[in-house]
Amino acid sequence: MGRRTLLGWWRAPFWILALGTGAKSFADNPILGSRRLNRRGLHAARLKLAHRLAARRRQRLARDVPTEWRDRFDRDGFIEIRDFLPPDHFSQLQARLLTGSFETRQHQQGTTLTRRVPVNGRLANAHPGLVAVIGDQSWRALLAYVASTRAEPFYFIQTIVTGQDSTEPDPQLQLHADTFHPSLKAWLFLTDVTDDEGPLTYVAGSHRLTEKRLAWEKARSVDIARRDRLSQRGSLRVSPDELAGLGLPQPTRFAVPANTLVVIDTFGFHARGSSTRPTVRAELWAFARRNPFLPFTGFDVFSARGLALRRTDWLYGLVDLLDRLGLKKQQWHPAGRRRPIDP
Ligand SMILES: [Fe+2]
Repeated sequence: MGRRTLLGWWRAPFWILALGTGAKSFADNPILGSRRLNRRGLHAARLKLAHRLAARRRQRLARDVPTEWRDRFDRDGFIEIRDFLPPDHFSQLQARLLTGSFETRQHQQGTTLTRRVPVNGRLANAHPGLVAVIGDQSWRALLAYVASTRAEPFYFIQTIVTGQDSTEPDPQLQLHADTFHPSLKAWLFLTDVTDDEGPLTYVAGSHRLTEKRLAWEKARSVDIARRDRLSQRGSLRVSPDELAGLGLPQPTRFAVPANTLVVIDTFGFHARGSSTRPTVRAELWAFARRNPFLPFTGFDVFSARGLALRRTDWLYGLVDLLDRLGLKKQQWHPAGRRRPIDP
């Protein structure tokens, strides 16, 4: 054992504790990345337990969700609802959010630029129409069911600008699972998304932990050292020709009009579809991921009103600080005041 490895082992207790959390990176935790342990089923065992617990939590969250929505989600791993808001409510919200001027952060991945405006207290106070959406009972119930937790999602006004200059490809174009357990992403599209504008794509049914998927996950965890960087960090990439072998169809493309809500379980394989021209689209975007090994659906301190709307600003501030100290890289750089509709 080299000096560096030996020094690294002071972190061993943290690596072990991380087994009971949503930690997913094979590359950053030698226990999660251990070929020997994964051959004996470590990764597979975490998956099975996390999915069993998620199914139980969902059972408890099911009764507030209309049966029709639930059936569609249970079958596909996503739900697409067109004309989600009443037309008047939507057009007012759309106009105010797309052309308002907001403090923005941005992050470029390959040729795609993502800009985000956190939905914080200030934004919420200025936009009661937005609070009406994210506070609505049926919205909350559906998102909680998909997320398998009542913990409040993070909300952003998000703009995706494709066709930027870059020699690197956009890693989100490859089909992948975000992590090893169910979690939520949702988009209420504020602009139309056409098929050539890099729409979201999702492999229907790939949210289920089938025998085939479990075997595939186990095989990946064993030979993870030979895989790409993002798979090694816990977001396993899958190639379209592997799908048939997993009993899965080719991806569905969400080329949808504005005012469509799409909610997905990100354990299912998804990607950003390719775009054939530079485009701009904007959406109200939600994200929720919690420790997958919790047996309960509530008790999230940060979900308290007031706290939930401050979390993103705190997190940005914390990562900015860690970045200045050289401990963690801030990917989201301040980009000044902008309108979400701007390219
Ligand atoms: Fe993803």
